[in-house]
Amino acid sequence: MKITETYEGTLERTLFSEAEIAAAIERMAREIASDHKGQPLLLLGVLKGALYVTVDLARAIARLPDGPSEVSVEYLCVSSYGNATRSSGEVRMLKDSDTPITGRNVVVVEDIIDNGFTLDYLRTLLGGRNPASLTSCVLFDKPYHRLVDVPVEYVGLTSPDEFVIGYGLDYQELYRNLPYLAQLRSWVFTQ
Ligand code: PRP
Repeated sequence: MKITETYEGTLERTLFSEAEIAAAIERMAREIASDHKGQPLLLLGVLKGALYVTVDLARAIARLPDGPSEVSVEYLCVSSYGNATRSSGEVRMLKDSDTPITGRNVVVVEDIIDNGFTLDYLRTLLGGRNPASLTSCVLFDKPYHRLVDVPVEYVGLTSPDEFVIGYGLDYQELYRNLPYLAQLRSWVFTQ
């Protein structure tokens, strides 16, 4: 049985298809490439959720005719949700990036922003390391429950105010490999 068939009985509806996600990433790639033309760029993906968007964004930038002089891809790993469906507000660094960022052009890549705590924590932390520039790229924006005002320079798609999974986003560590964004049926996480 295909793994997506196993998932499908628990999904309420598809929110963004693979094609819609790819188009949003390509648009963000063009914006980032245009803002970093001829300069070295570091894409810093925030695990685990941004696993896929970081890779797809890096490859979309590589396909463009013009853009950064070079692109590095690094990851760090933080967690604020654990197995809960809402953020605890307490962000924990599980694995910091060991790459020096002083003097570099850094784009932090996130799968989703909700309360904003995670990105706020990261921008404060990374900003203290004196990068040449520091911006954020978020594939799915959930603007309904923002508790901190954090800048996001590159936004992909606006997510509805639902519990969403797929394309890197999980529920209890499942669904990350679903290639599209979907809404989870409420009985899955309320039982
Ligand atoms: C998710 C997501 C973001 C964060 C956004 O991470 O990947 O990093 O929550 O939420 P916020 O804006 O309310 O802070 P999570 O803590 O679930 O870890 P994961 O990426 O490993 O799934």
